[in-house]
Amino acid sequence: MGRVAVVYDSLSGNTQKMAELVAEGARRVEGIEVRVVNIAEPDAAEVACRADGIALGSPTNLGVMSWRMKQFWDEKMGPYWMQLDGKIACAFSSAGAWGGGSEITCQALNTVLMNFGFLTFGLTDYVSKTASAHYGAIAVREPREEEVKEACRKLGERLAEWVGAYIDRNPDLHPLVREPGRKRPS
Ligand SMILES: Cc1cc2nc3c(=O)[nH]c(=O)nc-3n(C[C@H](O)[C@H](O)[C@H](O)COP(=O)(O)O)c2cc1C
Repeated sequence: MGRVAVVYDSLSGNTQKMAELVAEGARRVEGIEVRVVNIAEPDAAEVACRADGIALGSPTNLGVMSWRMKQFWDEKMGPYWMQLDGKIACAFSSAGAWGGGSEITCQALNTVLMNFGFLTFGLTDYVSKTASAHYGAIAVREPREEEVKEACRKLGERLAEWVGAYIDRNPDLHPLVREPGRKRPS
């Protein structure tokens, strides 16, 4: 059974709410184990290493990930460098404002994941006429709008689909098979 871990940092709870939605989306895919872990928990690195795919979330701080998230990868995950290659990953971030740097933060998270050899991805899907998660899911403060919530869920769902298709080698879980005829809403 493929394993997904939603690994997050959150100072005031907004990224945590996104993490719960990402996990909710991952649970839409049958046969995938889903865990949610805050990087402050003692076994966070172990949960991240055990997973076949991770969704990594951080608040946007000065346009990049929080220092706590950077420290987690430097110190807790550093020893596992060169042991995680080929796992699948994606990013999400909560910021204080649209235009406040949430997508750049997703890119920063993706950069760290790539450095560790993760296969990172974004969504092509539109969850509404004006919302997607091409570089990861983003929110302003807590995810309130339905399209923002659905972008978080869709990101988790896609992560679980990739884990199912590529790690569990179940071709029925490939998104183009699960959702034939996907298209951008008009
Ligand atoms: C040190 C610090 C730096 C921040 N930098 C930014 C920023 O660059 N852009 C932005 O839009 N919001 C910024 N914020 C606001 C947070 O990203 C925002 O409140 C977010 O929702 C917090 O997520 P959390 O509740 O998961 O901690 C900053 C907050 C702090 C504490």
